[in-house]
Amino acid sequence: MASVTSLTASVNAHLASALSATLPEATDADPLLRRSDRADYQANGILALAKKAKANPRELATQVVEKITAPGLFKDVEVSGPGFLNITVTDKAIIDTLAARAADGDRLGVPLKDKPGITVIDYAQPNVAKEMHVGHLRSAVIGDALRGMLDFTGEQTIGRHHIGDWGTQFGMLIQYLIENPDELSAETDTDGEQAMSNLNRVYKASRAVFDSDDAFKERARKRVVALQSGDKETLDLWQRFVDESKVYFYSVFEKLDMEIRDDEIVGESAYNDGMPETARLLEEMGVAVRSEGALVVFFDEIRGKDDKPVPLIVQKADGGFGYAASDLTAIRNRVVDLHATALLYVVDVRQSLHFKMVFEAARRAGWLTGEVTAHNMAYGTVLGADGKPFKTRAGETVRLEDLLDEAVQRAAEVVREKAQDLTEDEIQERAAQVGIGAVKYADLSTSANRDYKFDLDQMVSLNGDTSVYLQYAYARIKSILRKAEGADPVAHPELELHAAERTLGLHLDAFGDTVFEAAAEYAPHKLAAYLYQLASLYTSFYDKCPVLKADTEEQKANRLFLCDLTARTLHQGMALLGIRTPERL
Ligand code: ARG
Repeated sequence: MASVTSLTASVNAHLASALSATLPEATDADPLLRRSDRADYQANGILALAKKAKANPRELATQVVEKITAPGLFKDVEVSGPGFLNITVTDKAIIDTLAARAADGDRLGVPLKDKPGITVIDYAQPNVAKEMHVGHLRSAVIGDALRGMLDFTGEQTIGRHHIGDWGTQFGMLIQYLIENPDELSAETDTDGEQAMSNLNRVYKASRAVFDSDDAFKERARKRVVALQSGDKETLDLWQRFVDESKVYFYSVFEKLDMEIRDDEIVGESAYNDGMPETARLLEEMGVAVRSEGALVVFFDEIRGKDDKPVPLIVQKADGGFGYAASDLTAIRNRVVDLHATALLYVVDVRQSLHFKMVFEAARRAGWLTGEVTAHNMAYGTVLGADGKPFKTRAGETVRLEDLLDEAVQRAAEVVREKAQDLTEDEIQERAAQVGIGAVKYADLSTSANRDYKFDLDQMVSLNGDTSVYLQYAYARIKSILRKAEGADPVAHPELELHAAERTLGLHLDAFGDTVFEAAAEYAPHKLAAYLYQLASLYTSFYDKCPVLKADTEEQKANRLFLCDLTARTLHQGMALLGIRTPERL
């Protein structure tokens, strides 16, 4: 593995050293490079620096230019405006850098972090005995993409699927099963859909009895107590609900083309044993106080209706622990036992108040220290075409599976229309990759905190900022590479480049910088935007620069080289987002 310094970083480093040779107080960050329309880059940090040093910015800029020594890298550096530098790099530097990237396999020259941390990502957290709906989609998709990007930077990631597998509803379910043992076969299902339909049936039936029969209600309540006190028979039955649900979860995650590991499914129940201690510690430290029998944490700055402070309830007056207690215990586990340096929660914006309070309580208790960051990546709502929260025509929440099936079906229509040499099996396989990719990309290409419209027509459209557009771009490049027969993609740094080749080349070089930025900011939409722009720049390169009919063999090889690196970058970038790129479409 050989990591490559990006051109942006090289230019920056040279400018920074020329700058500090002129002004000793300048730092590496001072040149402030931007990509620019006028040249390859524009450095506009000199202005502020000159102001601070009470120097004339244009004069300072001119002195900096005189001190630059890197003949191979800079083609032109020109002082412009009030003291900007417009910078053009040489064609050779572009192709040399890209050739080094191309020689580095899947990593494309992207370095690994110097000091990787451990990020625990809490994502894809459905609830036991409940159907997954459109609301569970975003957490899974965004979490998986963030993880892909962070891993690629060298960060160590640990997944935590904080599934809802505990609570009073299990009293009702288990009691019903005790009284109707044949309702759920002792053997766990292997088919996900079957598993869910069994669970649904049991849920509905037990609910009906619970709502109509007071004696059953009382037995169900006692069953909760038995569950909490660890009664063996009760726990065994609880486990059956969990196992049956997991079969279902896995089937949906598989449909989503997402790998979920069993040892990372650590639900609310996993923190049961630690909750009494969490409560005891909080009370001893005075972080939590008794109020009307309950143990609560108060916050001055967090107020609800009537301007009354909203407390975080650690333990209810009846002694029961809830959602907050499990999350606080989970923080202790993640920081102390897993040695996390960052906690990331990919959870709906509607829970952001909960996390705000949980994080603050954990800080007061000293479980979250300055070295550990905690962030709730609070994503917005999925809306229907009418701009209201996404519902079926009958006004019900949309089952996630139905939605995915429909996306794949729509994708099949698109693939079939364009398919030239594909068999029916291939069409179906592509349809899954295109349909699921479309759903993921639509989610990932909008900034996560915003709501987005679930609009299948738009998602599978070939025009515009969609995954299908990117997948077609990739497949087209692969087809060109196949047609090139015999002619290999080989970099020719001695050639003079067309403007469109330069722009494409500079963008290709920025892949690693983009992934690092997107990962650090937990912003997959930045990577999505980069990839979309890559496909667009490739299209204009292809329009302006004949590849197979290039002027010379060298030019053809060099253009094939650009095609090949574009394809590999698209493939890798999409893979980090969890999206496939079929070789043919
Ligand atoms: N299972 C919860 C829900 O469906 C989400 C869990 C989020 N994670 C957490 N650590 N609280 O609403």
